[in-house]
Amino acid sequence: MAAAVAFTDLENLAETRSLDPAGSKEEFAYLELETPSEHSFENIVGKSATLRKVLDQVAIVAPTGATVLLYGETGTGKELFARAIHNLSPRRQRSFVRLNCAAIPSGLVESELFGHEKGAFTGALMQKRGRFELADRGTLFLDEIGDIGLDLQPKLLRALQEYEFERLGSTSTIRVDVRLIAATHRNLSAMIRDNHFREDLFYRLNVFPIEIPPLRDRREDIPLLAQYFVLRHARQMQKHINCIPMQAMEALVNADWPGNIRQLENFIERCVIFTQGEALHVPQAELSRSAASAGSTFETATRQVIINALKGAAGKIAGQGGAAQRLGMKRTTLQNKMRRLNISRDCYA
Ligand SMILES: Nc1ncnc2c1ncn2[C@@H]1O[C@H](COP(=O)(O)OP(=O)(O)OP(=O)(O)O)[C@@H](O)[C@H]1O
Ligand SMILES: [Mg+2]
Repeated sequence: MAAAVAFTDLENLAETRSLDPAGSKEEFAYLELETPSEHSFENIVGKSATLRKVLDQVAIVAPTGATVLLYGETGTGKELFARAIHNLSPRRQRSFVRLNCAAIPSGLVESELFGHEKGAFTGALMQKRGRFELADRGTLFLDEIGDIGLDLQPKLLRALQEYEFERLGSTSTIRVDVRLIAATHRNLSAMIRDNHFREDLFYRLNVFPIEIPPLRDRREDIPLLAQYFVLRHARQMQKHINCIPMQAMEALVNADWPGNIRQLENFIERCVIFTQGEALHVPQAELSRSAASAGSTFETATRQVIINALKGAAGKIAGQGGAAQRLGMKRTTLQNKMRRLNISRDCYA
């Protein structure tokens, strides 16, 4: 059983006490001031049963060299898990090479992956090795794999199946020994159905899928994560913060965190910036405002109605029984609203 980083256990730190600087009797949970022990699990903080299950899967697959597909919402830690898998594998001494398929223009992805010869295309002034070559005998992490263009997918499939490819502008075949880890926040099955992702490539990637659960499904981890980020940012800002008010901690635990751990970390960083004393200053109004607005505004109501229609239509937008028909609106109007509200049909297929 893989253990999560035993950084510090808020409940066991116990020792809540009443500070009484201005007659108030607010309870404070104490943060441990020791440096968190660096653990082989790559700073993956948390001890919830949900997280442990994921860590178990990581521990099982890491040494095997099998292809891993990490999927989950944004900010859940997919990249952190990818690095953990590499570091727990026999390839750990070799490179971990990452390519974010969504971050570079689609026309350049091919040469980034496979490299090119001098003069292969306008602007190819020098020969360049691609990420596959750079990752030889190491791990290649293809982030946002769902964003890879249909045109490139057959070539990627061949490279993953045969471990061979040609640089752009070259006819000589290069062979590599690469372990692949891919990640996506998209629903690849829905993309296959819409002909945006090749089924054969999906099966090649889906050898060992691991779902990284959203933070709201592992709220027990929030106190530990909050502490971890407070200490990290306080150290960077050379502040001495040793406690989090209990009430603030409760608000942190109960917030929804749609941006998951990344959002929590950024929020804590802001709290640390605002903190002047030893107790973390948490603008709870901000947390409850987001909770309240999440339940009341017109925008949220619209959002809910659209999501319900998408669920009812299994992600289908247009045509008979589609979400647009259910809502009595034009397909394009619905699509515009979805774009504005950042709703993806993939999630409801
Ligand atoms: N369990 C965890 N313990 C500590 N830090 C974490 C944990 N999970 C995620 N983080 C931190 O949260 C941030 C977001 O994680 P990461 O970039 O791995 O998410 P992601 O799933 O790849 O997000 P996206 O889909 O947006 O790319 C990073 O700074 C990462 O270090
Ligand atoms: Mg990522």
